[in-house]
Amino acid sequence: MSSSKIFSIIFSLIICLQLNAQKISINILDSGRKISLRGLSVVNDNIIWASGNNGTVARSINGGKTFAWLTVKGFEQRDFRDVEAFDSNTALIMAVAEPAIILKTKDGGKDWYKVFEDTTKGMFLDAMDFANDSLGIVIGDPINNKIFIATTPNAGEKWFTAKGDDTILNPVSFKGEAFFAASGTNIAIHKNGNYFEGAFVSGGTVSRIFYNEKTELLPIIQGKETTGTNSVAIDFAAKKGVVVGGDFANDKDTLLNCILINLKDSIQFIRPQTSPHGYRSCVAYISKNTLICCGTNGVDISTDGGINWQLISTKSFNVCVKAKNGSAVFLAGVNGKIAKME
Ligand SMILES: *[C@@H]1O[C@H](CO)[C@@H](O)[C@H](O)[C@H]1NC(C)=O
Ligand SMILES: *[C@@H]1O[C@H](CO)[C@@H](O)[C@H](O)[C@H]1NC(C)=O
Ligand SMILES: *[C@@H]1O[C@H](CO)[C@@H](O)[C@H](O)[C@H]1NC(C)=O
Repeated sequence: MSSSKIFSIIFSLIICLQLNAQKISINILDSGRKISLRGLSVVNDNIIWASGNNGTVARSINGGKTFAWLTVKGFEQRDFRDVEAFDSNTALIMAVAEPAIILKTKDGGKDWYKVFEDTTKGMFLDAMDFANDSLGIVIGDPINNKIFIATTPNAGEKWFTAKGDDTILNPVSFKGEAFFAASGTNIAIHKNGNYFEGAFVSGGTVSRIFYNEKTELLPIIQGKETTGTNSVAIDFAAKKGVVVGGDFANDKDTLLNCILINLKDSIQFIRPQTSPHGYRSCVAYISKNTLICCGTNGVDISTDGGINWQLISTKSFNVCVKAKNGSAVFLAGVNGKIAKME
């Protein structure tokens, strides 16, 4: 091959990569409020719910063109770190710290009622997930070294907590092991016929993955209160996943902030070749091999299943979510920022 031909191939590859990079942008839809958003639930390409501190909930029913912002009456001081929306009218919001509460609305956020409350000292709920529109789970920090788990069979109307002495439903935690309520995505459950699968990830002094009945230490930075795994994304059909985290007190550090997980037989780990470019609080699958992750110092995309990550924005986001029934991808973060990936 002539050298000019080689160069033309190289240049067309570079142009092609640049075009690919240019194709993706993060467009801010709303911002400028003194609210930190960490909860985000996208029902379809039009219906988006977000939640945050100071009792705040935002909702759009037009794909993010406009958002209605509301403060939940009587809960103005609470930090709603996770939201699970079922349609334009129905959603659950989960507050961190004491007392642990989950509220539900059936009228688009006008009225909220309490569906869960636990006044036990030390209660700290971290994240919810749903296998379908009725079966859900919430995870909380360990109480007396037992990880707190509650489940609902009816879209959050009633919650059932496992007995404290049940080590399968209430796994035992290590000292200093807890969960990050960073994006509502450190637990993922899935329904396959009548069979349920699930995973959740911990952080702190120890960072582990719990997948069905198996548990493994994660090769993610750990040992301090600010370190560990923040988020898990699982492709249950392909039996693989990706976790992200890092040290939120040192968000530029890329050391051990992401690992690919093979869940076929035993739990196996594969290190990325190019890590996400900082601490990451959330990761999500966009398609079979495309993933997005975000954190306080930026947003990365991978198009090879998580092996290589490309920084696409240096804007700060806490959470990134793909529509449950749709293709749109939204992000939310500090200063009431809500954005769409285009
Ligand atoms: C908003 O919430 C934060 C904590 O999440 C609190 O420090 C602050 O005082 C609240 N602001 C208002 C106006 O309630
Ligand atoms: C969710 O799954 C459960 C168990 O298979 C089933 O009983 C329930 O009807 C499902 N709910 C929805 C809304 O599909
Ligand atoms: C998903 O969206 C399509 C069209 O937007 C709709 O027809 C379908 O009923 C939705 N599926 C679910 C499970 O909501």
